[in-house]
Amino acid sequence: MDELKTNVLYFGDNLEILRNRDYFPDECIDLIYLDPPFNSKKDYNILFKENGGVESEAQIKAFTDTWHWTRTAENTYHDIVTNGPLRVGQLIGALHDAIGQNDVMAYLVMMTARLIELHRVLKSTGSLYLHCDPTASHYLKLVLDQIFGPANFRNEIVWKRTTAHNDPNRFGRIHDILLFYSKSNKPTWNPVFASYDTEYVDTYYRYTDEAGRKFLSDNLTAPSHGSGSGQYEWRGKYPPPKAECGRIQKRIWNALKLKDVSSTQKMDIHDLRDTWRTCQVCLLSLFGQM
Ligand SMILES: C[S@@+](CC[C@H](N)C(=O)[O-])C[C@H]1O[C@@H](n2cnc3c(N)ncnc32)[C@H](O)[C@@H]1O
Repeated sequence: MDELKTNVLYFGDNLEILRNRDYFPDECIDLIYLDPPFNSKKDYNILFKENGGVESEAQIKAFTDTWHWTRTAENTYHDIVTNGPLRVGQLIGALHDAIGQNDVMAYLVMMTARLIELHRVLKSTGSLYLHCDPTASHYLKLVLDQIFGPANFRNEIVWKRTTAHNDPNRFGRIHDILLFYSKSNKPTWNPVFASYDTEYVDTYYRYTDEAGRKFLSDNLTAPSHGSGSGQYEWRGKYPPPKAECGRIQKRIWNALKLKDVSSTQKMDIHDLRDTWRTCQVCLLSLFGQM
């Protein structure tokens, strides 16, 4: 494998640079974040300030985020359909038939050609974060599913980038989308830790164990969260088969009835019954079942 040059800034059209294997051999990149044009149909300027701090009228247009079906779009489309990965070509062909030769399609073929190359240069442990917004995120997700495989979709991150406000005749458009994909099912993942706010700790972590560690009191909800059944061994015991649950539940109810039960506690018990499936491991142990 050729050596990847690091600390280098490439200037020019990123498709040509990405396709140059002298610059970017296969599988040489750990992580990609891209903040491409969003198809916003706006012009973006480089903002200058006058000496007094006010914006100057003489701005340089940095780039135009408006896309049209041109000869370049046509060529890129044919290149993807003819030479791109089969599944990607099929999707782009189908979208082209459905959407037609218009601005959205021009934007999509521009992005698809680059995303194919970005996938090529990623290491098998690598990840890609595509920053976009609801203008085209739904189309881009289709494209990324074809390039990376739907199983390698990891998150849709919603970035609330501005405060709530009214946009005419609709709810405020206040968020961007980041689509996070990995190249394989074994990506490098460095967990991010951050401290809780003091207010949050004071409100929820109200108990302290013998070792001085704070903890909160919570229920055992979330059956089937993530993979597996969500039913785990607890103090050497597993939950019973589903059919037994009702019988045991009734015994708990009868046991609780023996005590002086307030109306609030009764409501809690009703809640408990609703979330019964999720609490059974804990309760079974308390009542010595199994
Ligand atoms: C949404 S802006 C990114 C802004 C940047 N992240 C920032 O915070 O300043 C998209 C950028 O992509 C650049 N761009 C558009 N097409 C490009 C291409 N074919 N090759 C390289 N850069 C391109 C635009 O010039 C623009 O700077």
